Amino acid sequence: MHLLGLSDAQRSEIIEILDAADRFIGLDHQIKKTDQFSEALAGKTLGLLFFEPSTRTRTSFELAAQKLGAETILLDEQGTSVQKGESVVDTCRNLEAMGFDALVLRHGDRHLPFSVADRVDIPIINAGNGTGEHPTQALLDGLTLRQAFEHGEGAGLDDLNVTIIGDIVHSRVARSDVHMLNALGANVTLAGPSVFLPGSRDPDWNARTVTDRATALEDADAVIMLRIQSERIAGNRVDMDRYIDEWGIDQIVVEQEMPSHCRVMHPGPVIRGVELTGAVADGPRSLILRQVTNGVAVRKAVLQKILGDL
Ligand code: CP
Repeated sequence: MHLLGLSDAQRSEIIEILDAADRFIGLDHQIKKTDQFSEALAGKTLGLLFFEPSTRTRTSFELAAQKLGAETILLDEQGTSVQKGESVVDTCRNLEAMGFDALVLRHGDRHLPFSVADRVDIPIINAGNGTGEHPTQALLDGLTLRQAFEHGEGAGLDDLNVTIIGDIVHSRVARSDVHMLNALGANVTLAGPSVFLPGSRDPDWNARTVTDRATALEDADAVIMLRIQSERIAGNRVDMDRYIDEWGIDQIVVEQEMPSHCRVMHPGPVIRGVELTGAVADGPRSLILRQVTNGVAVRKAVLQKILGDL
């Protein structure tokens, strides 16, 4: 079983992962200390292939695997024979031949996880493929929303209004979030300058699109802010001062444009002063560090589902 994206994920499959992840989280919203170590994945070896930078995803997969008793080995482009011209598909076939049980793959090529999955018989977990998908990020976002709005075990996100603001079309987080939110019954609004929004008839993006911040926020229960991905777009397409003015969220926007209960999320890395001010990122409405904690729990659940006996 692979986890390449959420476009075909069923509501029940997502809820199964969220329920399992929730069981790793205590009432204090931290990973339960009693669950710090287990032998659920003892004897398994997980390859972490990160060909793009990562803090949260790489570390939380490694932590999750190790806490479940698995061994992890990290590979990046500089330290592998990909640097000498070997294809990533061949690298993965070699790792399979060595006895790895599953591979977590982050790469800028959105087609790569599918090419690898076609050529190996061990599970491939997509940890971000260019502008494609980031399924475990969306799962941890779903868990965070479910907790914040007290939708309990077995529940979805029915009728929750979730707005995503930023560079939507280049965002693998937004793409996976939309699939997750649609599957769980939320109402989704995508917002940003028109150059960052999908066409209104694009079947890949089942959501309302909005091009002004006040409208995007007026009914929002939660807003997910995205980083402007300068590595994926020609930087000169956006005037950053204008973007911050029209789309950034500071304390004034929080008070004047957001409902009083609206929560703020961000997948990270946060560029303070661009999409959010530091005061908002660290403020009482922010769920950003709770997302990070939930990342460990969700990745534990995903690894147990794929390699164990969830
Ligand atoms: N959210 C996320 O994917 O962060 P990293 O790039 O640090 O893994």
